[in-house]
Amino acid sequence: MDSQAAPDGVDPNVPNVARMYDYYLDGKDNFAADRAAAEQILKLFPETRDSARENRAFLSRAVRHLVESGVRQIVDLGSGLPTQGNTHEVAHGVAPDTRVIYVDYDPVVCAHGRALLADGENITIVQADARDPEKLLVALREHVDFDRPVAFLMLAILHFIPDESSDGAGAYEIVQRLCEASTPGSYLVLSHAIDAKPDTTPEALEIYNRATAALSLRTHAEITRFFDGYELVEPGLVFPKDWRPDDQPLIGAESTSIGYSGVGRKP
Ligand SMILES: C[S@@+](CC[C@H](N)C(=O)[O-])C[C@H]1O[C@@H](n2cnc3c(N)ncnc32)[C@H](O)[C@@H]1O
Repeated sequence: MDSQAAPDGVDPNVPNVARMYDYYLDGKDNFAADRAAAEQILKLFPETRDSARENRAFLSRAVRHLVESGVRQIVDLGSGLPTQGNTHEVAHGVAPDTRVIYVDYDPVVCAHGRALLADGENITIVQADARDPEKLLVALREHVDFDRPVAFLMLAILHFIPDESSDGAGAYEIVQRLCEASTPGSYLVLSHAIDAKPDTTPEALEIYNRATAALSLRTHAEITRFFDGYELVEPGLVFPKDWRPDDQPLIGAESTSIGYSGVGRKP
């Protein structure tokens, strides 16, 4: 994207985490500052590109699992810029009556979402900040029937929210509030980055400190805590490529995973 295309209020010179991720996925919706920061990360963590693709492949398998299990309402929180294999495409491939609500706080993400996705059936775009879960729930109640099971997808978003945040609720509080609002039979799907290379991580953290959101990396045990109130479905919290692999070829080398992913069901 040409930085002239930045909407009012969007600074194209500050690397943006949604657009850096778009660059990892070979997308075109990014500015020079996003590409430069993403290239710095790729130098430190060349596996980031494959990991982003593994994360998307996990999303597809998890969404298929949800819809095949009977879920018909999916909230994709921190949905990111539209890419290949968007949540509604996967869900509607199994059951076209599945309602998909995309939520992101980023105005560029929401504008692209509206332009590309919003004329589809059963798709809604909501601009909201997860760090205000009460306001988020008010906005969601217009589109989600909380008396019926709902799945919250929180892929590659929680590592942008610290345990305690001066900008609103912390990561655990947000997930807990969404769990409380959900009926039994609802789901939480998440993926989360880890400190995969302690020697290199500090430099990567510095790069994200200068971007629109800093990174809060967590351990396996800390990520597992997000599933309090849920039962992890098999195979538990694992590398994305190990979560119910299908017959698609592996995306990268064995060592590409720089995060964990899992699916929990509220009993
Ligand atoms: C790395 S992208 C992940 C996109 C997609 N979920 C995936 O895993 O493929 C992270 C997204 O989370 C969004 N995000 C970060 N913090 C957020 C917050 N507090 N509220 C809503 N969205 C947020 C960013 O704008 C970005 O689009």
